[in-house]
Amino acid sequence: MKNKSVPIFPRHLLSVADLSSDQVAQFLDRAAILKKEASGSSGTPLRGKTLGLIFQKASTRTRISFEVAMTQLGGHSLFLSADELQLGRGEPIADTARVLSGYLDGLVIRTFDQATLEEWAAHAAIPVINGLTDLHHPCQALSDLLTITEALGRLRGVKLAYIGDGNNVAHSLVEAAARTGLSITLACPKGHGPNESILARARRDAKATGAIVELTTDPASAARDSDVLYTDVWTSMGQERQAARRRKLFRAFQLNRSLVKLARPEAIVLHCLPAHRGEEITDEVMDSPRARIFQQAENRLHMQKAILEWLLRRA
Ligand code: CP
Ligand code: NVA
Repeated sequence: MKNKSVPIFPRHLLSVADLSSDQVAQFLDRAAILKKEASGSSGTPLRGKTLGLIFQKASTRTRISFEVAMTQLGGHSLFLSADELQLGRGEPIADTARVLSGYLDGLVIRTFDQATLEEWAAHAAIPVINGLTDLHHPCQALSDLLTITEALGRLRGVKLAYIGDGNNVAHSLVEAAARTGLSITLACPKGHGPNESILARARRDAKATGAIVELTTDPASAARDSDVLYTDVWTSMGQERQAARRRKLFRAFQLNRSLVKLARPEAIVLHCLPAHRGEEITDEVMDSPRARIFQQAENRLHMQKAILEWLLRRA
């Protein structure tokens, strides 16, 4: 389905809303093919290409899956700690982006403000990929769509209950739902719901795919009859000072056995990781046969390959 509000070939991947429904579907098809192929058998489409990764926050999955993805596609990656670049001593993003565009073929940025990422994108002559900001985590949501498709065989009409903080992961899932027809109910404590303009835009976009996007403060009503239960940490990177307050406030939003019992018998459990076991999710649920959390983490690699192939080949 065409979405007229997004360009046919965006140069960057800053949010899921940058993509049309067709593009999301293409990523899913391609990631599934790449997953089936033995590593390296897809040839070396990115031979001679170099990806830079500039991370201002910690990462296990995003960093490593992008680096391995480049290796498997025949390219190379450079992990660049923001503190070790002249950026850390005050060199402007605009100048750094222009300089790096002369050396690299793409950049993955993990930072705090979405505006910082947009500044990179505005000045880079190469594709910029959002490796997580405070507002969005598009690569995560795209690979989660692959995990859901693998488990349930479809996206349209699937009911996903997101239990917890209305954060970056929640925002990207809402946008992914709007593009695919997945229905999503977010259960968040009062005052910790998603960004209102992201929600409003997703609801508008959802009209094209039939997705339903709902918000509640009642985790049980979200979980009831759901096909997918999803949670994320209560305290995201950068919010560490609020951790104690959030632990109290979010207590009733723990993904535990009682919530899982309300979901459909074949429902799966997802978590983008890292998890704080015993806080947003119990050990019992995380280690249960319903959890597809480690498959979900592996799928980051397959989706990153589809994203890189598509953005860097054209660069
Ligand atoms: N889920 C995710 O992005 O994990 P990392 O923070 O380890 O990259
Ligand atoms: N919401 C989490 C996601 C980590 C992958 C954070 O931003 O810390």
